[in-house]
Amino acid sequence: MTSHPDLERTLVTTDAIQARVAELAQQIDQAYAGADNLLLVGILRGAFIFMADLTRALAVTHAVDFMALTSYGKSTASGEVRIVMDLREPIENRHVLLVEDIVDRGHTLNYLHRLLRDRQPASLRTCVMVRKERPDVGVPVDYLGFTIPDVWVVGYGLDYADRYRTLPYIAELKASVYRK
Ligand code: PRP
Repeated sequence: MTSHPDLERTLVTTDAIQARVAELAQQIDQAYAGADNLLLVGILRGAFIFMADLTRALAVTHAVDFMALTSYGKSTASGEVRIVMDLREPIENRHVLLVEDIVDRGHTLNYLHRLLRDRQPASLRTCVMVRKERPDVGVPVDYLGFTIPDVWVVGYGLDYADRYRTLPYIAELKASVYRK
């Protein structure tokens, strides 16, 4: 059940998100137990809420940084992505974990993965809260929260026209809202 009138249904509840964040943090703690230079890279804007939860759930020592991207024409097939804000420091020889709120068509994560891999980090992995069920999208996701249907979703960092980002759950937006 959802309490917001613009929402069709809840896809991932607050409790499920919080439990999954704890599980992902445990997996990441184990995987990077020996690493002393882990860097979490959050992709603005959507990932800021997931990043805040994940970083506080981790026991392993790590630093955080952010990149901001924008995509030209979400509705076009090209999916061209542009950097608005880059990392502060080189990542050569660092263990880098990319943190994203969602993989939709996969353009953003594919672009970032190529870009950061070329900067020669010691390792490069990805952690994504939700991924849409789309058979055509091949992107490397190492730590995944949930797979969700291919519908318009909001909440937990995800927006529609800059709204709904701060909802603590992930929900499907009513078509009547985005078709207005
Ligand atoms: C969203 C989301 C991802 C990207 C995923 O960002 O935060 O970064 O789209 O889509 P893709 O897999 O099709 O590339 P958006 O461009 O909406 O910007 P925002 O995070 O600032 O809202």
